[in-house]
Amino acid sequence: MAATSLYERLGGLPGVSAVVDQFITNVVAETMTSNSKLKRTFNPLVQSGDSYRVASLRNHLIDQIGEAAGGPLAYKGLSMPAAHRGMNITEVEFNALVAELGKAMVSKGVPTAQQTEVVNILAPLKSTIVGQ
Ligand code: HEM
Repeated sequence: MAATSLYERLGGLPGVSAVVDQFITNVVAETMTSNSKLKRTFNPLVQSGDSYRVASLRNHLIDQIGEAAGGPLAYKGLSMPAAHRGMNITEVEFNALVAELGKAMVSKGVPTAQQTEVVNILAPLKSTIVGQ
């Protein structure tokens, strides 16, 4: 019997989409807090009011997480270094973003073990994002 993929265990497209939508909501809210760690990098997007850009990021994230989780989705966006070039993202900022993803998974009821699996597939991307 084939093992169930992480993608299927996350609830397939509806499950992954719900987490990504909550994640984006969380990130926007975080940029409005005092001592925000994400404001520096995300304010240009948030302040642009460009819903196409937000939708594009959302769909890219769904594809990227969906593909990495073993789903039938395929990421077609920029490479991670190209997407984050010139941002000089720090490790603190990286960890702050992953924390918002973690909170999104908690609020969408993703079991702890699966939260860890998602974080573990994204963690190796850190060196391709931080310091670019
Ligand atoms: C595992 C971690 C991360 C993943 C998987 C990820 C993924 C992505 C993807 C898929 C894009 C869109 C690429 C495209 O349009 O082709 C993007 C853009 C972007 N990312 Fe990340 N990213 C990560 C970490 C970070 C961190 C830590 C920050 C900042 C703290 C950040 C800030 C941004 C910003 C500001 C954009 C551009 C959005 C826009 O203006 O359109 N990302 N990221």
